[in-house]
Amino acid sequence: MTDPVLSVEGLSISAAGTALVRDVSFHVAPGEVVGVVGESGSGKTLTSLAIAQLLPRGVEAQSQKLELAGRELSTLSEHERRFHLGTKLSMVFQDPMSSLNPAMRIGAQLIEGSLAHGRLSRSEARDRALQALTDVHIPRPERVLRQHPHSLSGGMRQRVMIAMALMQQPELIIADEPTTALDVTVQAQVMTILSNVNREHGTAILMVSHNIALLSEICDRVLVMFRGDLVDVLSTDELLAGKGHPYTQMLVRAVPDLATDRDRPLATIDDLQHTNEVNAHGTGI
Ligand SMILES: Nc1ncnc2c1ncn2[C@@H]1O[C@H](COP(=O)(O)OP(=O)(O)OP(=O)(O)O)[C@@H](O)[C@H]1O
Ligand SMILES: [Mg+2]
Repeated sequence: MTDPVLSVEGLSISAAGTALVRDVSFHVAPGEVVGVVGESGSGKTLTSLAIAQLLPRGVEAQSQKLELAGRELSTLSEHERRFHLGTKLSMVFQDPMSSLNPAMRIGAQLIEGSLAHGRLSRSEARDRALQALTDVHIPRPERVLRQHPHSLSGGMRQRVMIAMALMQQPELIIADEPTTALDVTVQAQVMTILSNVNREHGTAILMVSHNIALLSEICDRVLVMFRGDLVDVLSTDELLAGKGHPYTQMLVRAVPDLATDRDRPLATIDDLQHTNEVNAHGTGI
C-alpha cells in the first residue's frame, strides 16, 4: 500500500479551554479527492488550518500524528516545517482578495513564492506561472500576468488562487470553499477546476464544501463533521447509498438530487432536531 500523503491521528483543537474539534483521525491517499462536509461551525476550517499550521492566535491544536508527505510535522524544526509545508501543501482560501496582494501584478505574485523557496530561476518560474494559468483555463494568460487583482472578475481571481496553489507542484491542496461570498456557479467552477487539476496532475485534494451534491460528483470519499467531531468517513458510494450516521443521512436527504427515494418528503430542520435528540440519548455521536 502506498503511504498516505496526509495522516491525521487524534487531532483536537481548543480555544480558551473550550474544545472546538475533538479527536479527529483520517488520511488522504496520494491522488485522492476527499470532501469535508458539515454544518457551519462544525470545525472544517479549523481542521484545515491546523494541518497547515495556520491556526489563529489563541487556538491550540494537539495531535498524536500529523504527517504530510512522509514527514511528521512535530519532528521538524521551524525552518524545515515552513519549507516542507510551503512545497508539499497549498491552501485555497474562501476569499481570494484576502490572499492576493492588490498592489502587485498577478505574475509577480505567482512567481514570488517559487523564487522564495529558491528552486527555480526567474524565467523557469515565469514559464511555470504561464502553465499554471493555462491549467486553470484562464484565457490569454500572458496578459493576466501583467494585470492587478482588482481588474479581474471574482471567478478569475479564484482561478488565479488555484494557479498560485499549483506553482509549487504540491502533493496536497486543501481548498476551503466559499460558503457565502461567491455565487453557486463560481463555486462549481472552482470545484471543477480543482477536479481537473487532480486528474491531470494527480494532486491529492481535501475539499471543504457545503455543496454535498457537487462533492459527491468529484470525491472518492467524504468526511462528515458535526459539532467538532468527525462522525463519518464514507466512500461516495456509501454516502449516496444512505449509509452512515443519522446526521449524514439527513444531509443527503436534504439534497433532492441525491435522495434516492423521491417519494419521501424532503428533510427539514425538525429532522435535524430529531437527530440531535438521538444524539442526546447517546446513540452515535
Ligand atoms: N479564532 C477562534 N477562536 C475561538 N473560537 C473559534 C475561532 N475560530 C473558530 N472558532 C469556533 O470553532 C468552531 C469551528 O469553527 P470553524 O470555522 O472550523 O467551522 P466551519 O465548519 O469551518 O464552519 P463554516 O461552514 O461556517 O465555515 C466554531 O464554533 C467557531 O465559532
Ligand atoms: Mg469554514
